[in-house]
Amino acid sequence: DKGGYRHFMLKEIHEQPRVLADTLEGRIAGGKVLTEILGVDAVPLLEKTQSVHIVACGTSYHAGLVARYWIESLAGVPCTAEIASEYRYRSPVVKDGTLFITISQSGETADTLAALKLAKARGYLTQLAVCNVPESSIVRESELVLMTRAGPEIGVASTKAFTTQLVALALFSLALGRVKGLSEKRYASGVRQLEQLPAMVAEALKLDERIQAMAERFVDKQHALFLGRGTHWPVAMEGALKLKEISYIHAEAYAAGELKHGPLALVDQDMPVIAVAPNDHLIDKLLSNMEEVRARGGELFVFVEDGVGRGIDSENMLVLPASGEIAAPVVFTIPLQLLSYHVAVLRGTDVDQPRNLAKSVTVE
Ligand code: M6R
Repeated sequence: DKGGYRHFMLKEIHEQPRVLADTLEGRIAGGKVLTEILGVDAVPLLEKTQSVHIVACGTSYHAGLVARYWIESLAGVPCTAEIASEYRYRSPVVKDGTLFITISQSGETADTLAALKLAKARGYLTQLAVCNVPESSIVRESELVLMTRAGPEIGVASTKAFTTQLVALALFSLALGRVKGLSEKRYASGVRQLEQLPAMVAEALKLDERIQAMAERFVDKQHALFLGRGTHWPVAMEGALKLKEISYIHAEAYAAGELKHGPLALVDQDMPVIAVAPNDHLIDKLLSNMEEVRARGGELFVFVEDGVGRGIDSENMLVLPASGEIAAPVVFTIPLQLLSYHVAVLRGTDVDQPRNLAKSVTVE
């Protein structure tokens, strides 16, 4: 049932305020993340955690890349995030005190499941699954589980599964941070951002009509470049994946600092460049990268956090609610989902069932 929406994908995009609230439900109280959500022995486990290996595929991998920034910056714990199809065929070195995390919407992705089975024989502290399907293989095979509560996701393009994964990983990162000496102020701010997140996402969804208008500029394009820095680099990667998978426009994401190392050569008036610009410590660097794009005649589309308001000269600029280090990657994902959705609709592709793709990749 599409609930009155034209596609499942659009319905699922609009469900996000509710499913994000569901994923937070009963997991925060009195301004704190309840560590019990990671099992009865959560605190000793978190204390023992000296490093983290995250393994996943596709969109779930992008969630893992965001979490890597959070875990290192909030908890000071070294973290890697890796594609399951690579992890399972190399020889990963596992130091004592390493926690293994898989992320999967379906819980049935063949490579992620195989990586988990391999990891179980590798001397990790334990394995934690961030997953959306309670009865799935990955949940059954994992010692610890942190469920996302996105509900069934029908559209092949992952939307609400991704943002609920980010919320689950934020809960984990804050809980780990708390036992590893994260300052009270930053911890409290992170928790507060999570509490306000459903409302911020609802606010971001109001940009739908303006994004629909923006989408018209993409219909005839063959390529697009997404730029971000820090946690918003993987957010840009997710934006590019969404656009390529449902609109079939070739899209790539780069860390904005890499522009001069190659991709800038692609920029001309036929290359739309989408920049994700939260108000963080990297904003001035990003603004100068955007200037480099403009100087080459590239058409800039900017999603900017309320309060930046300087140095951006683009008619294609949309302002998002002020959010903070935990909330921003979720909030900025919303317009990217809507953009790819509207571009795909305008191009007349099969939005919910893109060619050549399956919802759950159970063979490698
Ligand atoms: O079910 P999973 O999260 O393990 O699936 C992993 C990928 O196949 C999946 O995220 C895929 O990249 C999405 N369809 C992209 O929208």
